[in-house]
Amino acid sequence: MQSLLTKLSALFGDAFEEIGIGSSHGTVVVSARPDLGQFQCNGALAAAKALKRNPREVAEQMLEALAEREIFADLSLAGPGFVNATLTDAFIGEWVAGMGRDERLGCPLVERPRNVVVDFGGPNVAKAMHVGHLRSSIIGDSLQRVFRYRGDVVTSDVHLGDWGRQMGMLIMELKREQPGLPYFDEAYTGPYPTEPPIASEDLEALYPRANDRCKNDPEAMDAARVATMELQQGRPGYRALWRHFVDVSSATLKRDFESLGVQFDLWLGESDANPRIPAMLERLEGNGFIEEDQGARVIKLPPADGEKEIEPLIVVNREGGVMYGTTDLATLEQRVNDLHADLVLYVVDARQGRHFDQVFRAARRTGIAGNAILEHVAFGTMNGPDGKPFKTREGGVMKLGDLISMATVQATERMSEAEIAKDYPGEEQELIARTVGIAAVKYADLMNHRTSDYIFDLDKFTRFEGRTGAYLLYAAVRSKSILRKATERGFSPGEVLAPGDRERPLLLQLTRLPDAVEDVYEKRAPSFLCEYVYDLAQTLSRFLAECHILSESDAALRASWLGLVELCLRQFELALDLLGIEIPERM
Ligand code: ARG
Repeated sequence: MQSLLTKLSALFGDAFEEIGIGSSHGTVVVSARPDLGQFQCNGALAAAKALKRNPREVAEQMLEALAEREIFADLSLAGPGFVNATLTDAFIGEWVAGMGRDERLGCPLVERPRNVVVDFGGPNVAKAMHVGHLRSSIIGDSLQRVFRYRGDVVTSDVHLGDWGRQMGMLIMELKREQPGLPYFDEAYTGPYPTEPPIASEDLEALYPRANDRCKNDPEAMDAARVATMELQQGRPGYRALWRHFVDVSSATLKRDFESLGVQFDLWLGESDANPRIPAMLERLEGNGFIEEDQGARVIKLPPADGEKEIEPLIVVNREGGVMYGTTDLATLEQRVNDLHADLVLYVVDARQGRHFDQVFRAARRTGIAGNAILEHVAFGTMNGPDGKPFKTREGGVMKLGDLISMATVQATERMSEAEIAKDYPGEEQELIARTVGIAAVKYADLMNHRTSDYIFDLDKFTRFEGRTGAYLLYAAVRSKSILRKATERGFSPGEVLAPGDRERPLLLQLTRLPDAVEDVYEKRAPSFLCEYVYDLAQTLSRFLAECHILSESDAALRASWLGLVELCLRQFELALDLLGIEIPERM
């Protein structure tokens, strides 16, 4: 099935074609003036301008050429050449019934599936995930779901930060604290202990100490740099210690992602690119792409047409260590060669824009990108009430576990205010509160266009009215409960009938889901789906206020209404799933 707008646009496009004008002018959109019609096409204006003709005349001619006129209840010209169109109720009813019969609810698959790599999450070993990683995880997860749903072959990779300077800093800090460990003894030949020398919490506490020291002490920083380089070059003790750091950290991170409901196909890190680096650098050196610059090895990035000047990408620093960009290049090489990536999406904080600009240009210049399209799917910052990147009251980063607990507490409070789930067993209440809490955080993050910053306000996010995850879960659960009550009375959903005034807005709303999914896909922006579900919830609630389903005596009408509620529920389930949001069974 195609979307209704696609169908209407094709119809109008054919009409333009018929009168000798390109079909591209046929784009039909939802009307900005519902009083004049349900849909509009403004193509005659642009077409007339290009042909130096009178737009009204073009529009009139185009209207005459329009096929399948019987689906329109009204077609009219307005202003200088806008075409307004209103569909017949019979057609609308048929269309929505058709969506209901379609397992995919009218959402088409892509014609040619691509291999898409989604690089998101990106937490760093030994550091607590910060809000940037949280946003990346929430947005990236929704994108991987949408791309997969459209039929692309998606491979997601967490791309752990496990190879940079912080590794050398940690090694040196631990050496200061526990110099007797065998990892630091160059004469030691192994085997190294299988038990990690440090627990997860201690590892997280080690990093800030190491960081403080290196910030204030250039000598410590130099030592960390050297240790990083030695680690990368394979010093056995450092490798063994590093392995422990990664394992200890990964266990915690995996648990965190699981509680957030986020999954990755690949659990790779920057370090996994390391084996490829020597050969890659040798080839790039051989092809003359690498130059020397103040002791470092760099790839210069001469601007192509229309591009801005940008500093060269450093691939090997003065100490001989490889850099963030180097691992990104080698990782990309693997994604292109082994995964045959057609498109790579990097869902990363907008503040890394310059980094990706450099990496992408270097990848294209050197041919590492192959034919793959590289995109930085940038997002803005989650700020605290002070307008600065969100921090805990103590000034630290908020741990994901703490965030989920806070959201759960807040949701519990809201639920008891609104008397939601109050008669359910305590355990179920807790589960619902947690689901509501996570939905609240995710929806609040996804509903703003990803490039905007927003202010973290749990109090607002967990409300049961307004644009919140809590409200949407409530709406979805409400439709479940209507269907359940209907079943109890022996009523079942039936064929959706042609709408009257009470049902029409809901049917028109239901037709729009495929376009919302398409918008998320094309613009890499889940906010379009967030908006869609909110509108659906609102329209459904108005419909339910007017149509008292369970007390309706006309059986065919009642069945059709139940059919609509069922379709709404299926749309909620699909849309929220694509946003990574889980719906409780009841509330
Ligand atoms: N670990 C990085 C950070 O915390 C994010 C990684 C993003 N992905 C990438 N391929 N560079 O900033």
